[in-house]
Amino acid sequence: MKILPVKGTRDFYPPQMTVRNFICDGWKAASLRSGFVEYDGPIFEHLQMYQIKSGDEIVEQLFHLTDRGGRELAIRPEITPTLARMVNQQVNALPRPIKWFSMPRLCRAERPQKGRLREFFQWNIDILGVEDVLADAEVIFCTLDYLRSAGLTSKDVIAKISSRKLLAALLLHLGIAADRLETLYPILDKKAKLPAEAFEEMLAKAVESSATVKTILELMAAHSADDILHIVPDVAANETAQTALDELQRVFGYLKAMGVAEYCRFDMSIVRGLAYYTGMVFEVHDVVGDLRAVCGGGRYDNLLKDFGGPALSATGMGMGDCVLEILLRERGLLTDETFKRKLDYFVACTDAALTSAALAIAARLRAGGASVELSYKTGNLGKQLKQADACGAMRCLIVGQEYQDGGKVVVKEMATGEQSLVSEEMLLNRL
Ligand code: HAM
Repeated sequence: MKILPVKGTRDFYPPQMTVRNFICDGWKAASLRSGFVEYDGPIFEHLQMYQIKSGDEIVEQLFHLTDRGGRELAIRPEITPTLARMVNQQVNALPRPIKWFSMPRLCRAERPQKGRLREFFQWNIDILGVEDVLADAEVIFCTLDYLRSAGLTSKDVIAKISSRKLLAALLLHLGIAADRLETLYPILDKKAKLPAEAFEEMLAKAVESSATVKTILELMAAHSADDILHIVPDVAANETAQTALDELQRVFGYLKAMGVAEYCRFDMSIVRGLAYYTGMVFEVHDVVGDLRAVCGGGRYDNLLKDFGGPALSATGMGMGDCVLEILLRERGLLTDETFKRKLDYFVACTDAALTSAALAIAARLRAGGASVELSYKTGNLGKQLKQADACGAMRCLIVGQEYQDGGKVVVKEMATGEQSLVSEEMLLNRL
C-alpha cells in the first residue's frame, strides 16, 4: 500500500522549506521593525476555547479529538484565542502596551482550494492595552510595511478598511435587532466569496424586509462617509456611527502620515467572518481580485473579558503563507533563482591520504563562520567539482598534490573558473 500525504497538507522538501523560511524571515523582520516581540503557544487547546467567541465558521472547521482522559481538544485553527488566554493569565505582570507577534502552524478542516489549505502558517501581530485607533493604524502599517518590503506595490495589493462599530450602528439604525448582529456578520462577510445572486438570497433569508436588504446592499458598496450619508441621510445624527466614522478618519490620517496611504481604501464590504471583532476591520486583497484575502484582522475589545479576564482592548491581524506565496510568485518576486542554495566553500580532496587534512581545513573554516560542504569520496576531481556546483558553492578548495608538496590548497572560483594557490593561513585570514 502506498501511503500518500493527507489532502490539504504540504511536504516541505528543501526548496519549499527555503521559500517558507524566506517568507517567515520577512514576517519576523517586519515585526521587529515595528517593535513586536515573539510568543507562541501549544498546537492544541481545549475545544471549548474556540467555541466561545470565534464564530460558527471556525468551529465547523476544527480538527478535534478526545484524549484518553475524555478531554475534548482541538488543533488550533487560529492563535488569537491562545493569545487572549495567555495574556489573561499574566495580565498584571505584562508591561503595556503588549505588542506580540507569532508565526504559528494552524489547521482548519476547510475544502482545500487555491490559497486555502488544511494546514498553513499564519503571521500574527497584535497590540493589546491600547484603546486608541493609533494601534489599529500601527497594525495596518506593519502589515503593509512587510508587503512593501517583499516588493508588492499599491498596484499589486490593497488594504480594504472598514469598521464593525460603524456597521453595527448602521444595522441597528435600519431596525435590525441587536441580538441578530452576530449572525448577520458571517453572512455579510460572504459577499465577495459568493455569486451576487446567492449572496442576496442568503441575506434576504436573514433580513425580513426587502427594503432593508436593498439598503444593506447599497451600504456594502460604500467607499466614503459621503456615500453612507447619501444612502441613509438621517444617520448623521447617530452618535455611534459618527464616532466610528471619526475613528476611521483618524486611522486613514495616521496611515497617510506613515506613508502607506496609497495602499489603503475605505470599503464597507469588509465585515470579517470571525465573531469577536468590535471596531476597525481590514483585509488585504490582490488588486486584480483573483485570489482569496492575503490577510485579515481588526479590533476585538471584548475577547479577553469573554475569556474571563479584565476588559483589555486589542487589535491585530493574521496573514497566511499560501495566498502570499502565490502572489509573490505571480509578480516575479519569488523565483527559483532567488532560492539557489548558497555555500561559501566546497572542499575537494584528490588523495585518500589527505582526507584528515581536508577535514581539518573544513572544520577550521566552519569555526571561522563559513558554510562548508565536503566530498565524502576522494579521488575523481571532475565529479567533486560537479558536486561543488550542485551545492551552489562559490569556491572549491582542492586539497591535493600542492598540499602535499607545500601545504597549499588550490582555490577555484566557481563562477569564473579562476584558480589561485593559497596557504591555509591566508585562507583563514580571508574569513
Ligand atoms: P482569518 O481571516 O480567519 O483571521 O485568517 C487570516 C488569514 O489567514 C487569511 O486572510 C489567510 O491569509 C489565512 N488563512 C485562513 N485560513 C486559511 C487556510 N485554510 N489556508 C491558508 N491560509 C488561511 C484570523 O485567523 C484572525 N485570528 C486574525 C487576527 C489576529 N485577528 C486579530 N488578530
